Amino acid sequence: MTTVQDIRSRADEEAPITMLTAYDTPTARIVDEAGIDVALVGDSMGNAVMGYDSTLPVSMDDVASRTGAVVRGVEDALVVADMPFLSYGADEGDAVENAGHLLKEAGADAVKLECGPHTVALTERLTDLGIPVMAHLGFTPQHVQQFGGYGRRATTREAAREVLELAEAHEEAGAFSLVVEHVPANVAAQVTDALAIPTIGIGAGPDTDGQVLVITDVLGLSERAPPFAEQFGDVAGEMKRAVEDYADAVTEGEFPAEEHSHTDEDLDDL
Ligand code: KIV
Repeated sequence: MTTVQDIRSRADEEAPITMLTAYDTPTARIVDEAGIDVALVGDSMGNAVMGYDSTLPVSMDDVASRTGAVVRGVEDALVVADMPFLSYGADEGDAVENAGHLLKEAGADAVKLECGPHTVALTERLTDLGIPVMAHLGFTPQHVQQFGGYGRRATTREAAREVLELAEAHEEAGAFSLVVEHVPANVAAQVTDALAIPTIGIGAGPDTDGQVLVITDVLGLSERAPPFAEQFGDVAGEMKRAVEDYADAVTEGEFPAEEHSHTDEDLDDL
């Protein structure tokens, strides 16, 4: 079993941390068996598998039920559940209750928060209560409306310094690791150098302590993937072939065959 402390100790290690999203049991099983360190039940499920065009509609129920599905598929990987939009940030009591639900009922090992100045105190509170926090800075998709789109972040000295300072503040508050998304590689490298906890990059260059991608982008199941993602397979193509072969077999009367049916002679002449 990979623990939060195992991940925390991987800053500056030779072997980078590997993290992928998963939203269901069969995919989680594959991610786990492939030796991925962290299965992230990301709110990217909104775009990736729920047909929304952002993560904003994803609910606590969505994340909790999919976290349970991922936990049931995993033996070794650490399972991190994303706190969805407005499940934290407005009221501390609600945030604690929601984060606690993802650990107590859904079975996650830790939660991830999309961070800003407003999440420093919450990170400290959750950590004090025994709820490990993975922080997330740079491009934070729950701010897509405020950012005005899906562009790069930390592209000015001021914005890059703010990411660095917030990273340090969240480390100080107790975060055990930090996702840094869609920022210049040299900014991510400086954040990584400044922290004792590991950074996990997405669209943030090669110098972070780990890498994360959305599983549907990796598998070739996404309609649109971000420019920093890489497709490592054509699962959509293979699914389409299998579904077409099934449709053809039914249409041609080839399925079901003998071996898929049984007949009980006692049940003739009803
Ligand atoms: O929701 C998600 O999948 C994420 C990753 C892209 C880091 O936040």
